[in-house]
Amino acid sequence: MTTFICSPGEKISGEVRVPGDKSISHRSIILSSIAIGTSHISGFLQGEDSLNTISAFQQMGVVIKRDLDRVEVQGVGLHGLSAPTADLDLGNSGTAMRLMLGLLAGQHFDSRLIGDRSLSSRPMLRVIKPLQAMGATIESEEGGRAPLQVRASQHLQAIEYDMPVASAQIKSCLLLAGLYAAGETIVREPAATRDHSERMLRAYGCDVVSNGPEIRILGDQQLSACDVEVPADISSAAFLMVAASIAPGSDITLQHVGVNPTRTGVIDILRLMGADLELQNQRDIGGEPVADIRVRSAPLSGIEIPQELVPLAIDEFPVLFVAAACAQGTTSLSGAEELRVKESDRIQVMADGLTELGITSKVKQDGIVIQGGRIKGGTVDSHGDHRIAMAFSVASLRAEQVIRIKDCANVNTSFPGFAELAQRIGIRIQIGD
Ligand code: S3P
Repeated sequence: MTTFICSPGEKISGEVRVPGDKSISHRSIILSSIAIGTSHISGFLQGEDSLNTISAFQQMGVVIKRDLDRVEVQGVGLHGLSAPTADLDLGNSGTAMRLMLGLLAGQHFDSRLIGDRSLSSRPMLRVIKPLQAMGATIESEEGGRAPLQVRASQHLQAIEYDMPVASAQIKSCLLLAGLYAAGETIVREPAATRDHSERMLRAYGCDVVSNGPEIRILGDQQLSACDVEVPADISSAAFLMVAASIAPGSDITLQHVGVNPTRTGVIDILRLMGADLELQNQRDIGGEPVADIRVRSAPLSGIEIPQELVPLAIDEFPVLFVAAACAQGTTSLSGAEELRVKESDRIQVMADGLTELGITSKVKQDGIVIQGGRIKGGTVDSHGDHRIAMAFSVASLRAEQVIRIKDCANVNTSFPGFAELAQRIGIRIQIGD
């Protein structure tokens, strides 16, 4: 069990490029595998989650070669995957499980999806139900949990589906299943969510029509190989944005960060709190906007987080709660019940850790109210959640005593090399057992 031991820090500085975007990395393997021709991916996230996605497609007969962050995928076409000889183990990744379920629901073979303890407790009915409505046969454990057994498809039918939850994973699952369905699949989202699937499907030559909250895809479209340059992950960069904001005297530049407008809620929220973030050198790479982000420390103030920004910052709340703990006044969040079903219950787990560090908060079913204050030291438990572990590491910059963070091995799922990079820029992390 990995423990992070974080000593109080001072300012941070430097120019850094954090690892590749996790959402885009997963999608690049999925789409390249079912495209015709050879795709080349650069900047690929070498984290456990995306590496598990590579293994899953290798098990289904796709030749994938990787040299660090460069990946070559020899696509087999829409109907070229073969039956896996063993269970597909997706580790900690909800994205891999939900997106692949959509894809596997349309295959002519059986498959079984498994994951770790956290993934096996996360809700899958949100994807199983609409897939069943399309004609898929999927068996799950009690309450729609993994392991998931997918039966060979007897031809899927397109559906029109109003998503009850604003989730890019549900949307992407249904778009992938839609490729294997007869007719036109129509998905409507209750609020905007990340649109990497739509952008990437288009880059692979697929016709996907977005009209406000509605996305349409026709079945049986062949994808063509494409070269993908994965930008640095804004969700990983977010830890350093908050770190530089809260540690007086800091000045850091985060290079080549993906700034797709469906992901930049963290920038908007930090700016509303008074943070000093400057987007430089904005450019477009392979259909995704990218920028360098310069962050200088600034006094933060508590705010009421606007509802419409919640899905656009959904993965960044653990570290935004640390920003709130360092802010003057009260920060309140509501409409974020989804945080309770991420890799951990991120509302409760963060509240427990903040309490241990001397910060007052009030937990609500769909959010939290955090009173800014002094961060003492103490021992917190990340519950194996990568983003909780990294959020509390950032908190150490303003702590009065050492913070010990338990159960940090899963940081490798999304941000391999986090501790080393953090040390390099001035966060004092040591790794213990
Ligand atoms: C993701 C979507 C989000 C996010 C997850 C990655 C994706 O989940 O939390 O880390 O790549 O589509 P939901 O869409 O279920 O909120």
